[in-house]
Amino acid sequence: MRMVDLIHKKRSGEVLTEQEITFIVQGYTKGDIPDYQMSALLMAIFFNGMISEEISALTMAMAGSGEMIDLSEIAGIKVDKHSTGGVGDKISLIVGPIVASLGVPVAKMSGRGLGHTGGTVDKLESIPGFRIELSKEDFITAVNTNKIAIVGQSGNLAPADKKMYALRDVTATVDSIPLIASSIMSKKIASGADAIVLDVKIGSGAFMKTVDDARVLARTMVDIGVKLNRNTIAMITDMEQPLGREIGNANEIRESIEVLRGTGDKELTEVAISVAAYMSLLGKVFESFEEAQEAVRDIVMNGKALETFKRFVASQGGDPRVVDQPELLPTASYRFEVPAERDGYVNQIDAEQIGIAAMLLGAGRAKKEDQIDYAVGLTLNKKIGDAVQTGESICTIHANREDVQEVTAMIQGAYRIAAGQPAPVQLIYDVIV
Ligand code: URA
Repeated sequence: MRMVDLIHKKRSGEVLTEQEITFIVQGYTKGDIPDYQMSALLMAIFFNGMISEEISALTMAMAGSGEMIDLSEIAGIKVDKHSTGGVGDKISLIVGPIVASLGVPVAKMSGRGLGHTGGTVDKLESIPGFRIELSKEDFITAVNTNKIAIVGQSGNLAPADKKMYALRDVTATVDSIPLIASSIMSKKIASGADAIVLDVKIGSGAFMKTVDDARVLARTMVDIGVKLNRNTIAMITDMEQPLGREIGNANEIRESIEVLRGTGDKELTEVAISVAAYMSLLGKVFESFEEAQEAVRDIVMNGKALETFKRFVASQGGDPRVVDQPELLPTASYRFEVPAERDGYVNQIDAEQIGIAAMLLGAGRAKKEDQIDYAVGLTLNKKIGDAVQTGESICTIHANREDVQEVTAMIQGAYRIAAGQPAPVQLIYDVIV
């Protein structure tokens, strides 16, 4: 088989076979196929798309390019959750302890964040002592004991995807639905998930800007799951504004604890409850979504989910006292209020701009090597629909430096304040099963 013939085939709009796709993925991972040929193929896929058999074959080939984690020593259906990413998205930190309390094992491998704020494991590392590296044996024991463990993604998980993603990033081929869908699903399959809940975000702070595009991506990923025997549900949820009120690593841990205590932001709580309900439905703990949703609310209100969170933190070396004494989490030296520039209602908050503002404070990485400052971040005091008066604080900046002019201007630019009150924000647009 010659790569040039396969590029030609895809360029002509023909369908690649499973064998051909495996040849390409293995060859590229080993370095036998050079970047320039892979770039040409990715561009041909970008323009001509792939049929579902090709997408499933690509997913399996990328999953099989490295370590395939075997979680069979953990009893029960291992339900994983993935978000396509957004600003202030701390849902994994909340739903993990909830579904674990309901008996669904959570054996989660999570990535670090690049851009905006940290990923789930960066946020967890803001808890003093928390370790995200466990041996495979300790990981399995932790899940069997506490029903939950969250660790960093192994370097050898779907290496083909890692290499291809880096190439897509510099060849303008990231935003291709077959490539995004196979990339996400390959990592979920390699990390041993039996079932998967996908949270596809739409809006200013997300990859997908429209509900229609998000539906196509969601449907493509659910179809991959079905073909590969992984029960999969995709929710399409809002990222027109940041999720919840806190952005930044320790800030997001604080807010997750509030939600687990039953006193958190209402919208964030609603999305988390739905995600947790779908996860426990796929974990076959309940027969219907309604039953699952009620049980999720109960487990939060009776304090069991928060107890599980404490046990989980302690089992990975973290200080569980942060739950009752959030001041033990890293705290920034300075606080600055961002004043509203006019009277009116908040009509829009550009999530991406807010994410960049948090990153400029040090809450995220612009480059892989950058160090995260766990203490810094933003608290959104006003969200879409809220009334504001000139000079009132729309946002609190938590900083470790005094010069925050640029960040302040960015936040003011991200808020659109107008005379009319906008329609209430829709939190969940669709669920694809
Ligand atoms: N997230 C991924 O993991 N892969 C993509 O291609 C896009 C988003």
